[in-house]
Amino acid sequence: MVVLVSGAKGQLGQAIQSIVDNYPSIDFVFCTSSDLDITNSANCKAVFEKYKPHFCINTAAYTAVDKAETETEKSHLINVIGAKNLAEVCKKHDTILLHVSTDFLFDGTSKKPYTEDDVPNPTGVYGQTKLEGEIAIQNRWYKHFIIRTSWVYSQFGNNFMKTMLRLGNEKEELSVVSDQIGTPTNAVDLAEALLKITEFCQTEPVEVFGIYNFSNEGQCSWYDFAKEIFKLNNLQIILTPIPSEAYPTPVKRPKYSVLDKTKITTTFGIQIENWKDSLRKCTQFL
Ligand SMILES: NC(=O)c1ccc[n+]([C@@H]2O[C@H](COP(=O)([O-])OP(=O)(O)OC[C@H]3O[C@@H](n4cnc5c(N)ncnc54)[C@H](OP(=O)(O)O)[C@@H]3O)[C@@H](O)[C@H]2O)c1
Repeated sequence: MVVLVSGAKGQLGQAIQSIVDNYPSIDFVFCTSSDLDITNSANCKAVFEKYKPHFCINTAAYTAVDKAETETEKSHLINVIGAKNLAEVCKKHDTILLHVSTDFLFDGTSKKPYTEDDVPNPTGVYGQTKLEGEIAIQNRWYKHFIIRTSWVYSQFGNNFMKTMLRLGNEKEELSVVSDQIGTPTNAVDLAEALLKITEFCQTEPVEVFGIYNFSNEGQCSWYDFAKEIFKLNNLQIILTPIPSEAYPTPVKRPKYSVLDKTKITTTFGIQIENWKDSLRKCTQFL
């Protein structure tokens, strides 16, 4: 079985590479943006012609949430046209597409965890282009899994945990937003979930394509997340909780973006770790 992974140099791409030994029956093809530019349809066709993958995991994306407000075209090109190109080439080769999406599709006004059926209402260009990317796939190729996730961190790439660790070593005091509630997701847990879905598709004849949520279990604020990062890494720092208004950003973040994981756990039998336990696991790799 051939599984092609786009965006291989990114955080999630690296997380998938870190667990390949757990999946000896899979032939992985890892493509960086220079091997496979998802915005280039001819390039997508040539790469798929060469490897003829059974699955394509698209981790490639434009992920600079605030910069997207001024780089609208680039964000659209990668998140919408890129997703469309992959859906088209997957259809041509009968390849199952696993595409990663985001909690930033939601405006954060809900008081209960978002299910896959809740209506998106993005507050910025990044969320809007990720939503349009989902729609581009849904309109073109039914053999897809869209996995929405949130607050991704890991020992790889750039992320909130890495930023906190850097600041924790540089500063004595730090203020972190405490009125945005969500769930951290260890990229390695997400990588395992994606590969378990590919395994499931090989053994189960039932077609269960569609949208699924995945994050770790539980919920917290960015302040709680930072506090736990400092605790686990024995960093002594004075941490102050602040409201979002005290840390203005070009894009308004959802105040609440906890995802309901009932569908992914019941459909695929995936067990999900609590965010604190998974953060502790990740800390061992630092
Ligand atoms: N990080 C989070 O907190 C978070 C939260 C929710 C959802 N997500 C979603 O999770 C997925 C993975 O995120 P991540 O954290 O791994 O992002 P990341 O670290 O920013 O990686 C994105 C990768 O996409 C590649 N890329 C950009 N343009 C490309 C193109 N035209 N063709 C091929 N590759 C291209 C980049 O390659 P270059 O570096 O070579 O440009 C980079 O390696 C994304 O879909 C993101 O929207 C992330």
